[in-house]
Amino acid sequence: MFDWEVFVKSWSLPAIVLVTAAAVTGASAEAAGPFAAYDAQAKALLARMTLDEKLGQITQPDQEFLKDQADLEKYAFGSIQSGGDSDPRTNSVEDWRDMYERYQAHMAKTRLRIPMVYGVDAVHGHSNVVGAVIFPHNIGLGATRDAALVEEIGRVTAEEVRATGINWGFAPCVTVPQDERWGRSYEGFSEDPRLVAELGAAAVRGLQGRDLKDPRRILACAKHFAGDGGTAWGTGMPDADHPGVRYPLDRGDARGDEATLRRVHMAGYVTAIEAGVGSIMPSFSSWNGERLSGSRRLLTEILKGELGFDGFLISDYNAIEDLPGDYAAQIKQAMNAGMDMVMAPSRYREFFATLKRLVEQGDIPQARIDDAVTRILRVKLAMGLMDEGRDLRADRSLLETFGSASHRAVARRAVRESLVVLKNEGRTLPLRRGAKRIHVAGASADDLGNQCGGWTITWQGRSGTPTQGTTILAAVSQLAGKDSKITYSRDGSGAAGADFAIVVVGEKPYAEFQGDRSDLGLSAEDVATVAAVKKSGVPTVVVLLSGRPMILGDVLSQADALVAAWLPGSEGGGVADVLFGDFKPTGKLPVSWPRSTSQIPINLGDAHYDPLFAYGYGLTYDDGAPPAGTQSRISPAEPARAVPVQAPAEMLVNGGFAKGDANWPSVRPKASQKGGPAPSRAPLPGRARSPHPPFARGYERRHGLPRGESLRTSHGFPAVSSSGRGPP
Ligand code: BGC
Repeated sequence: MFDWEVFVKSWSLPAIVLVTAAAVTGASAEAAGPFAAYDAQAKALLARMTLDEKLGQITQPDQEFLKDQADLEKYAFGSIQSGGDSDPRTNSVEDWRDMYERYQAHMAKTRLRIPMVYGVDAVHGHSNVVGAVIFPHNIGLGATRDAALVEEIGRVTAEEVRATGINWGFAPCVTVPQDERWGRSYEGFSEDPRLVAELGAAAVRGLQGRDLKDPRRILACAKHFAGDGGTAWGTGMPDADHPGVRYPLDRGDARGDEATLRRVHMAGYVTAIEAGVGSIMPSFSSWNGERLSGSRRLLTEILKGELGFDGFLISDYNAIEDLPGDYAAQIKQAMNAGMDMVMAPSRYREFFATLKRLVEQGDIPQARIDDAVTRILRVKLAMGLMDEGRDLRADRSLLETFGSASHRAVARRAVRESLVVLKNEGRTLPLRRGAKRIHVAGASADDLGNQCGGWTITWQGRSGTPTQGTTILAAVSQLAGKDSKITYSRDGSGAAGADFAIVVVGEKPYAEFQGDRSDLGLSAEDVATVAAVKKSGVPTVVVLLSGRPMILGDVLSQADALVAAWLPGSEGGGVADVLFGDFKPTGKLPVSWPRSTSQIPINLGDAHYDPLFAYGYGLTYDDGAPPAGTQSRISPAEPARAVPVQAPAEMLVNGGFAKGDANWPSVRPKASQKGGPAPSRAPLPGRARSPHPPFARGYERRHGLPRGESLRTSHGFPAVSSSGRGPP
């Protein structure tokens, strides 16, 4: 039996030797950011490590693929992860906790007893674990414009993760999706980098807390650096099941100049670093043909150099294998580019052996290895993992709040704030209480899995009941009042005679690459359901569950009211709260809503901006409903809850980048880089772009531009195919 008391005591600082003058050879980067304070301790520990122990810190297997439990101590891994489908036996909170503790206990038996960081994709709650609260995916949180709420969600998520002992979440995703056909669109807060920057930093603060040592918070990981949301149509990853065919966008190539990459796709990293994020995940994708995993320019010069990131980089799942050459060449390129820890889920033995050979041959300098390990150790020290008396077991008291009513209340509030009312003809909403009969219809009305989307219990998510929660049908039944009869049909039949109908339609769960689509039209089943209900003559409220704007077609004219509910997660009650008017809708579009698939990509700032619903659009019950058929180019009404902003709308229209602006991504140039950044690469041919506005700090609840303002700028990579639009 492993003795935890002995283990805990053994973490006393003398045990890891606190020497101030580190005898470290090689030019290990000096920390300049929040982890600088731990440099001396990290280097002291590094000085005691053998090469094998250092390489163990760099190697991250997925627990699912551990070949032998003895490997845990043999390699003394710095980290283990659970990918989207890598669960313990029953997937209960207790099984997760036992699994984590078992692995951590093995680390205590290694020579230096360096604890591991265990990583999971806690991207909308502790979303692998049955019973955890599932929050809306980021696109819904973008609609809330509520940074304080996003921070609170981070805090609750961290607590639920810590209930299993786990100390690292691969979140937040600070991607800036520019093309809704991308299957990861919902992982981004917005198409607008300013909103992403604001909410991404809030998420980091929530997950990590004010002090990373807080045992109820976790290490965050901003991902996927950089340009993952800007890939060009037709450049995505090969489809393993169909030789010669590619997924259109995921893991593809972002094409554009460096200024655009910085301005659009690095915004979230600047603020995440300011918020003290301890880890960053480089993207699978490429920038102008070069994979991010192997880009020294982006990882070392810009991210670590200019932006001053002094935490560590973790490569994405097998991502280094997309680099050119054989495995050795791939490892060499990634490590020399600045990768610090490598996800080698199943090939970890081969990774370790190859890395060792490369170091011994001099292909990877010892100093680079020392730098990588110093970065990892700095973060572990900052987390307090090696503090005297630190108990690395899960805090049992957190089980009380895991999936609790109080945590679910935070999620329910997030759902309420995320809903965007796109149409409300004749003031159909709010629904009146006391109706004799309410008919609920649609394939997603009673489907928790569809509500939660991808990255929920399983990697791609699934329809049905993957976990605990409240479906919209259940929530409507609860809130309608005991005198109202609720009837339900999946296909819309039986609505006639009801006082009104609620039809819940939308996408089925998906995640990375499998969610790429060329057509964002609603399914034939959904269209038929709405038509059937409408035909029955009852007022029809359509609730759309989707990870992105969908092409609404006739459904928009048939619906008396239409609500975009994104992927709200486990708390369907938040949808019912707004439908019944217990809370007024306040959500504003975090993305531009296209009229047709051929209009995609469409983004705020495009030269010819003519969406169905503009960025920032969203009705509230005080707005009054616009007359039918006038939804196009409706400019947003006054903000529902205006707060002072530092980016007035005029800046969006007229502002070019102001030289010297403190929010420009290349902040904090180091003395050694006084010469300035390397010249930008030449812009690729594409849509003409004009200057883009500077970032707005303190950006919150900013709404779209009034009608008539011309939007001249374009901040998106031109996601062009040979025809300029759609599949080649
Ligand atoms: C995804 C990451 C995720 C990782 C680990 C990758 O496929 O791109 O977002 O963190 O898997 O599950």
